[in-house]
Amino acid sequence: MTRAAVLCGTGSCLPGRRVGNDDLAALLDTSDEWIRSRTGIGARYWAEPGTATSDLAVGAGQRALKDAGGSAVDAVVVATATPDRVLPATAPLVAARLGLAGAAAYDVAAVCTGFVYALATAAGLIATGTADRVLVIGADTFSGILDPADRSTSVIFGDGAGAAVLRAGRPDEPGALGPFDLGSDGDGYDLITVRGGGSAQRLSERPPERGDGYFSMAGKEVFRHAVLRMSQSSARVLARAGWRTSDVRWLVGHQANRRILDRLADDLGIPRERGIGNIAEVGNTSAASIPLALDDAAAAGLLRPGDRVLLTAFGGGLTWGSAVLTWPRPATDREPVHPCPAPNTRPEGATDGHHV
Ligand code: UT7
Repeated sequence: MTRAAVLCGTGSCLPGRRVGNDDLAALLDTSDEWIRSRTGIGARYWAEPGTATSDLAVGAGQRALKDAGGSAVDAVVVATATPDRVLPATAPLVAARLGLAGAAAYDVAAVCTGFVYALATAAGLIATGTADRVLVIGADTFSGILDPADRSTSVIFGDGAGAAVLRAGRPDEPGALGPFDLGSDGDGYDLITVRGGGSAQRLSERPPERGDGYFSMAGKEVFRHAVLRMSQSSARVLARAGWRTSDVRWLVGHQANRRILDRLADDLGIPRERGIGNIAEVGNTSAASIPLALDDAAAAGLLRPGDRVLLTAFGGGLTWGSAVLTWPRPATDREPVHPCPAPNTRPEGATDGHHV
């Protein structure tokens, strides 16, 4: 019998500091009106200095494991572009803090597509019998790499983490994940990037500059790619699944920009009101975006058993990816999703990182 990965729990975590558009307008040449009308974002949450990606990942992981009704897993996969350190990966630390030392643990680096890539690798671990249960987390703290003077990126990104627990099951049962569609185009390598901190900087002829550590994005070009790549990838995964667009009850696109999500829905022929999203409240949380949106929608009782769900993401690399699933179960009685104070369980010595 073919094994499939089946979704059995979700969780999420946001840092405590809510930053509204007016807070940013006090610091930058921007306005609530511009941000809302160009992006659909009303607020985002930023981590305080001292809070690392692993803190948010542990918070989301704890909640997902509780939602799944059991803490044992064979693997922990963390999708992130803002790891606690350049090395080692963040996942082993997260696993240990969740009491899961001994489990396989690794990071996936595909920026905003990271969670879909991580789901695909986790589904592969389950399909091959390497693991029976996997915790998949998307977590990012972009506030630590944003250029405070760059109004085009500072207003978009927020910090957060979202998680899902997958268990071994059958491909025909509700919650079964897949098929997937994954892709990349390294010709767009420079469109979304942090230039410094990697091995290539050593090869550069000029000495490192202060701005090298900051995130940069060619917004307009990225916007165009985001719509095109997510709609093409969605169409491919729907064809693979044998679903028509009219079968899709909920479209969960990467929460990059409200206008991107609307155009994506239009291109696919899916009514905009079938798009699930929380961008207005959390902004673009990169790898956390899809699991955060899913967890919010599950907690709100929006996702009902049998609902067909299409996930699609786009990000740096360039990368893109999509997956389908049928929502498995009624919403459980849950504590309010937010706020989720980041747990203070970091071991001695693991307190440095890119936030310092
Ligand atoms: O998560 C990974 C994928 N990321 C994305 O998909 C993001 C894709 N890109 C976008 O969402 C949009 O391109 C942005 C939100 C980044 C920018 O919106 P836009 O409508 O493409 O604006 P633009 O870059 O074309 O800029 C239009 C104007 C410019 O002024 P001028 O040159 O026309 O005078 C910008 O300087 O808006 C200005 N502008 C701003 N004004 C007020 C840019 N950012 C801001 C701002 N507040 N925050």
